[in-house]
Amino acid sequence: KTKLAVFASGTGSNYDAIVEAIRTNQLDAELTILVCDNPNAKVIEKAKANGTPMFVFDPKQYVDKAMFETKIVEVLQEASVDLVILAGYMRLVGPTLLQHFEDRMINIHPSLLPAFPGLDAIGQAFDAGVKVSGVTIHFVDQGMDTGKIIAQEAVKIEENMTREALQQAIQKVEHHLYPQTIQQLISRGE
Ligand code: GAR
Repeated sequence: KTKLAVFASGTGSNYDAIVEAIRTNQLDAELTILVCDNPNAKVIEKAKANGTPMFVFDPKQYVDKAMFETKIVEVLQEASVDLVILAGYMRLVGPTLLQHFEDRMINIHPSLLPAFPGLDAIGQAFDAGVKVSGVTIHFVDQGMDTGKIIAQEAVKIEENMTREALQQAIQKVEHHLYPQTIQQLISRGE
């Protein structure tokens, strides 16, 4: 089975969707480890409840990004990880980690890239008044949300839609598109 690592920094609703897809056999993979860069993240409680092994770290305890990414690489190699899934990992991946997992690391972003990269993509789309936004899944490269696009799905922004409603609509799409896209990559042998 393909061994996945999920990286998350916050709530972990995409982590949940991936766990659920594995449990219901919609995703033929094994979740070997959750990597979390925020010791206060909600996702940690979820992973504890599910029994997902975890590597939780505080970046402030390391001299620089190269140091904690070296540690992450060790952890991932130890777990024989095949594919790295960034799911709300709110940190730019550096060369140390990229070099080991190039073409084996994907990210989900809550906009139709290349529109609205970076932080608060949902707020950016809302403030811009666009009528369509959506979700993008892409390979990770050294840029900010710039890697090769694998999948996209549009979300219509209705008249009078609140920011919260838009966020809900986008997350709903994320929760089916991410497991489905991961499964397609696995089936294609990537
Ligand atoms: C998701 O909406 C994801 O697309 C976004 O963070 C959220 C994490 O939610 N990622 C980015 O903005 C990356 N630039 P979750 O913790 O509930 O899965």
